Amino acid sequence: MSDGNGRRAQRARYTRGMGRGLAVAVMVIAGSAGVAYYYQHVAGRVVQAAENSNPSVPADARVDRGRYLVTITGCGDCHTPLTMTDKGPRPDPDRLLSGHPERATVLPAPKTQGAWVWSGAGTGTAFAGPWGVTFAANLTPDKNTGLGIWTEPMFVRAMRTGKHWGEGRDIQPPMPWRAYAKMTDEDLKAVFAYLRSVRPVRNYVPDYVPAGEE
Ligand code: HEC
Repeated sequence: MSDGNGRRAQRARYTRGMGRGLAVAVMVIAGSAGVAYYYQHVAGRVVQAAENSNPSVPADARVDRGRYLVTITGCGDCHTPLTMTDKGPRPDPDRLLSGHPERATVLPAPKTQGAWVWSGAGTGTAFAGPWGVTFAANLTPDKNTGLGIWTEPMFVRAMRTGKHWGEGRDIQPPMPWRAYAKMTDEDLKAVFAYLRSVRPVRNYVPDYVPAGEE
């Protein structure tokens, strides 16, 4: 009897022990599931939100990247008007990326001869060729004459599709959008962030004149 009692007591202790072990195990599993859930769903969303609204890279790192890209892809070669200096024509730092100057005199485009392309106005921002005459756009954030009202998705779309404003007429030569279309999203956004950061210049750029029109 006493033996049976002893064993029963032992079994009771054992099951109590198991119960406690089980409870601890359940807590551990639930706990790690909770942690995993937190990282996957809550923290993940927080990180994602940070990337969407405000890039995970600090804002000025993005602008710096954009400045670098705009420099090496030569946007200014067409979009910054040249000014005459004692060392010859140089990009005008006061009109950085502001496009074809509205007051520049443009000689009438010559009759196109085959594939010859002509760059007029001395500012290097107007181009004539078989497509007609184009004027480099104002890329500064000026509200009415630049990219002021453009959104980042519009800009990315324009550069990827070669459509004016991302959805209108075809963007004409010599704007090399086909090359820029190959940039990563991150780089195109960096370019846009940089363009947003330059000094706005009020300069109304004339619209594209298709071939055969005045
Ligand atoms: C070889 C000259 C050239 C270079 C280099 C160039 N562009 Fe352009 N870009 C133009 C011309 C010309 C236009 C006007 C085209 C038209 O009216 O269809 C233009 C138009 C644009 C537009 C207006 C598109 C629209 O919706 O009408 C944007 C934005 C633009 N360029 C951005 C850039 C950026 C950013 C770079 C550098 C990454 C760049 N361009 C480099 C010549 C150039």
